Amino acid sequence: MRFFASLDDRVVGAPSILAADFACLADEVRRTRDGGAELVHFDVMDNHFVPNLSAGPVVAASLARATDLPIEVHLQVERPESLVPAFADAGVAAVCVHPEITQHLNRTLEEIKSRGLEAGCALSPATTPSVLKYALPYLDYVNVMSVNPGFGGQAFIPETAEKVRRVREMSGLPVMVDGGITEKTAPLMVRAGARVLVAGSAVFRGDRATAMRGIIEAGRRAVE
Ligand code: DX5
Ligand code: ZN
Repeated sequence: MRFFASLDDRVVGAPSILAADFACLADEVRRTRDGGAELVHFDVMDNHFVPNLSAGPVVAASLARATDLPIEVHLQVERPESLVPAFADAGVAAVCVHPEITQHLNRTLEEIKSRGLEAGCALSPATTPSVLKYALPYLDYVNVMSVNPGFGGQAFIPETAEKVRRVREMSGLPVMVDGGITEKTAPLMVRAGARVLVAGSAVFRGDRATAMRGIIEAGRRAVE
C-alpha cells in the first residue's frame, strides 16, 4: 500500500515515537493505533546534523514486525543516502530527508523510490520551500517542520503555517507537519493545508489513545 498516494485529502494522525517508552515500543504504537493512528513517524538522529541520538534500522525492523501500521522514517542525519538501503530492508514504507544536509537530493529521492518506498523532503523552519522546486517530480510528500529538528517537546513555531500553505500550493503533495502539534495547533495547520499530523509529546503522556484521537478529531473538525 502506498500510504501518501492513497491519502485522498484525509486528515490522519501519526505518533512520533521519539516520545514513546522504547522499552515497550510495540505496545506504545498499539495504544496510538487504538486512538486512530494510521502511520508511525520514526525519527532518526545522529548527534551530528542534530544534537540528539535516537534509533536506527534495527529498531525499525523490530517495530515493522510488531505492527501492521506503515512506518515513515524521518532522517535527521548526515549522509542520509547511506541509510536508505538498511531502512528499506527493515520494511518501512516511506523515508524523508532534509535538503539542508542531503548532497544530490534528487539522486537520494530516486534511490528511496527505486526501493519501492515513498519519498519525502523535510524542511526545517528556516528553510525556504523553493528548494523543492526541481525535486517535485521525485517527491510523494513534504514534511513541514514546525519546530527545529532535534528534540520532542519544543514550542510550536506559528510562522510555519504560512509555509504549509505555500508548499501545498506549489506542490499539490500531501503535507505533513511535525513539531509542537497538539489539539490546539493541529486545526491551524490543517486549515493551512496539512493532512498528516505528527505528534510526540502531546500523545505519549497520559492515555495515548485518547490523546491521539483528540488531535485527529481536532484536525478533522477544522475542515468540516
Ligand atoms: C523533532 C522530530 C519530531 C518530534 C516531535 O526533530 O522530528 O518528530 O518528535 O515531537 P513533539 O510532537 O513533541 O514536538
Ligand atoms: Zn520527525
